[in-house]
Amino acid sequence: MPYLREAWYLAAWAEEIKPGELFHRTLLDEPVVFYRLRSGAIAALHDRCPHRFVPLHLGKLENDIIQCAYHGLQFDCSGKCVHNPHGSSKAAATRPYAVVERDGLVWIWMGESAEAKLELVPDFSHMSGLPETAGSQGYLWTECNYKLVADNVMDLSHADFLHADSVGGGAFTAARQHVEEMGDAVHITWECRHDKAPPIYDQFLAVPGQPVQFRTEVRWRAPGIMNLDITITPCGGGPLQALQTHNAHIVTPETATTTHYFFWLTRQFHMEDAQINAHRHTAMMRAFSTEDKPMLCEQQRAMGTDDLFSLRPVLLPSDAGAVRARRKLEQRIRDEQAAKASRPSIEAAQRPTTQTAT
Ligand code: FES
Ligand SMILES: [Fe+2]
Repeated sequence: MPYLREAWYLAAWAEEIKPGELFHRTLLDEPVVFYRLRSGAIAALHDRCPHRFVPLHLGKLENDIIQCAYHGLQFDCSGKCVHNPHGSSKAAATRPYAVVERDGLVWIWMGESAEAKLELVPDFSHMSGLPETAGSQGYLWTECNYKLVADNVMDLSHADFLHADSVGGGAFTAARQHVEEMGDAVHITWECRHDKAPPIYDQFLAVPGQPVQFRTEVRWRAPGIMNLDITITPCGGGPLQALQTHNAHIVTPETATTTHYFFWLTRQFHMEDAQINAHRHTAMMRAFSTEDKPMLCEQQRAMGTDDLFSLRPVLLPSDAGAVRARRKLEQRIRDEQAAKASRPSIEAAQRPTTQTAT
C-alpha cells in the first residue's frame, strides 16, 4: 500500500535540529535533510544532489546555503541551485518540503500539493505548556511497519500481558471497550471498576491497593497520530483524587518495514517532582524498548510482509479500534490516489525539477 502523502508527519523533536548542523532522516522512503536558517526557522530539502545524487547532508552549511560535498553545487532553502562553480546552474534544483515547528515538534508535509494545510498541523499545546518535571519524550527506531506500532497503541489489551508489572494488571481485559468513529478520527475507550490500579499508578494513590475506577482513551487520526489519556480515580473519590496522564504516541514510516516511533508522556499529578518524572520515564522507556519494541520487530519478521490483511489474521473484539483506524487510513490513501490519477497534468507541473546543470 502506498503512503498517505497529503498529511503532516512528525519528522523530529525540535531539539534534534541544531543551529549550524545538517540533520538527516528518511521519511516515507525519501531521504530528507533539515537545517535551521539564521532566522531560526527550519528548512527541509530532498537529501539528494540533482547532479550525481550524493546526500546533501554530507556537504556543508553556510549562510543558509548547503554546498554539496562532491562538486560544490550550492542550494538555498527553496531547493534552487544558487551557485555552480563549474558554470551556469539555472536548471538544477532539489525538492523543498513545507515544515512547521510547533510545541517542540517538527512537522513535515510530504505531499506535492503547492500549499501545505497549516490548519491541519496537530496541536499539542495542552502538553507543551506543562512544567518540564511533568513530562518526558522518547524516540525508538523500530524495525516494523508503522501500522503495527499504531495497532499496538490502539489495542491496549496487550498491556495486561506484555506489561503486567507496570501499566498492565488486568484492567484492560476487565474493561468495557467502546469504539467510535469521529469524522476522520477513531476513538477507543476502556472503562471499568478494578480491584487495583496498574502498578505504575497504584503507588501514587492516597491508599495504595484500593479499588479504582479506570478509564483510558486513545484518539487516533491519520497517518498515525495518537493521543492517549488515562484517568484513575479511587472508588468513592472525586476528580480531585484522580491520577491523570496525557500522552502522545506518533508514528512516521521510515520505510515499509521500519518506523520512527515518537512518544511523549505527561502527568497531572506530582507535576513538580523531578524524581518521580525520572522514574516514570525510566519505567515507561523500559516497557516500550524492552517489551513493545522487540515484540513488534518479531511480529514483523514473522509476518514477512507489511500487508497484515493478506495474511488473514484472526480478528478479536479488542482489534476493533485498530482495524477501523487501518480502514480509515486505507480509504484516505485510495481517495488520494484517485484524485492524483484524475489530475496528472497538474501534478506533472508541480513535480520538482532535477535536470542537469548546464
Ligand atoms: S554530486 Fe553534488 S555537485 Fe556533483
Ligand atoms: Fe505496549
